Amino acid sequence: MSEQHPRRAHAVTGSTRLDSYVDRYAARTQGMTASEIRALFSVASRPEVVSLAGGMPNISGLPLDVVGKAIGDLVRTQGATAMQYGSGQGDPRLREQICDVMRLEGIEAHPDDVVVTVGSQQAVDLVTRIFCDPGDVVICEAPSYVGALGVFRSYQCDVVHVEMDSGGLVPDALRAAIATVQAAGRRIKFVYTIPNYHNPAGVTLAAERRPEILEICREADVLVLEDNPYGLLGFDEDPHRALRADEADGVIYLGSFSKTFAPGFRVGWALAPHAVREKLVLAQESATLCPPSFSQMAVSAYLANHDWLGQIKQFREMYRERRDAMVQALDDMMPPAARWNVPTGGFYVWLTLPDGLDAKAMLPRAVTARVAFVPGTAFFADGFGAQSMRLSYCYPTPERIREGVRRLVGVIEEEIELRHTFGAGLAAGRAAGMPHDGGRGYEAPNTDLT
Ligand SMILES: Cc1ncc(COP(=O)(O)O)c(C=O)c1O
Repeated sequence: MSEQHPRRAHAVTGSTRLDSYVDRYAARTQGMTASEIRALFSVASRPEVVSLAGGMPNISGLPLDVVGKAIGDLVRTQGATAMQYGSGQGDPRLREQICDVMRLEGIEAHPDDVVVTVGSQQAVDLVTRIFCDPGDVVICEAPSYVGALGVFRSYQCDVVHVEMDSGGLVPDALRAAIATVQAAGRRIKFVYTIPNYHNPAGVTLAAERRPEILEICREADVLVLEDNPYGLLGFDEDPHRALRADEADGVIYLGSFSKTFAPGFRVGWALAPHAVREKLVLAQESATLCPPSFSQMAVSAYLANHDWLGQIKQFREMYRERRDAMVQALDDMMPPAARWNVPTGGFYVWLTLPDGLDAKAMLPRAVTARVAFVPGTAFFADGFGAQSMRLSYCYPTPERIREGVRRLVGVIEEEIELRHTFGAGLAAGRAAGMPHDGGRGYEAPNTDLT
């Protein structure tokens, strides 16, 4: 038995970079591709690069001594339970506390209808798993969260993007998209929306549009998947009323402690109509048996013993200061033909470059100039978005943000200069809204792209 299987030998010796398992993978893995921008991000994470790319929450303000003490107490007093398997639906006490959190956005819910998940990312996965067959349509905003697009693609869904403007999802565009898809005899499984402080667009769904969006989906018999990890991170305003607050049957609501506490615990949740909740628990059990007891109990202890709302207020102030730094730097330095929005909460600014410039083509030069961003194409399932980019202000200090924008402006001005010298061929066919990479321009989620 000394002979090795040739495929295995290949894999072990590493004599080729080709994947010798390629003919064995399930069809759904065809959507799981790492694009060339991932390689750039390993460079972008070097300290000399100002990264305006990553969406990592800035948890430097968390009182680690308080959290450490709470975790120590947890191990001492409830260690045997915390280190044991738990319920597939999640810890009952935490589910009650989650209902208190959601009440801030007008949601009256019963803990029985909450399923705890491994971050809201897993909730997106579980919801897609229980609803979507290959070829089903999911409607998403244009642009949309890269991690959700990766999930939809891995379940072989077809994503149909719907226009947003400064007031978020445009109701008429949604109505028209639903009508077109349904007229073609296709099944829409849900509308995936991020109503507050959108990732990546930075916009918030206007209050007067919310009932209209619900009405459109109700009439068309389409579920809404409301993903709301940033809802409590508004800078100057009370939390917006959740879509789920006004529609219990047609909305599945997703929440997370990643941005309001810490992502390392990986605790999020789904609030779903009762029957859907049952299916979600079964899906959760087959995926993980149960979400981690230890993380859930740690989050629960934090909520019970710490002024978590006061902590969120501090986070909001820190992010507002960073938002201000970014917007001020953009105002001061960007060429006039560039456009961007001023977010009222969350982590992101969406910037559209002057005509003819291509953010993805520009990225290697930007990284060489020691600044990183995420090109707009990452947030579309169909290759659109070439003229735009997402700029995150959540992590760097205000000084670094300003320096990052200064470097970025240098790169953009060089691009404009090159375009003047060599003509429009530089970015041929890559104007905003023109597909140019065969629809493979978005990433599976990674921490630079959250
Ligand atoms: C819109 C959106 N949904 C979901 C997630 C996933 O968050 P988590 O799994 O950490 O709860 C993120 C993370 O950035 C996000 O921006």
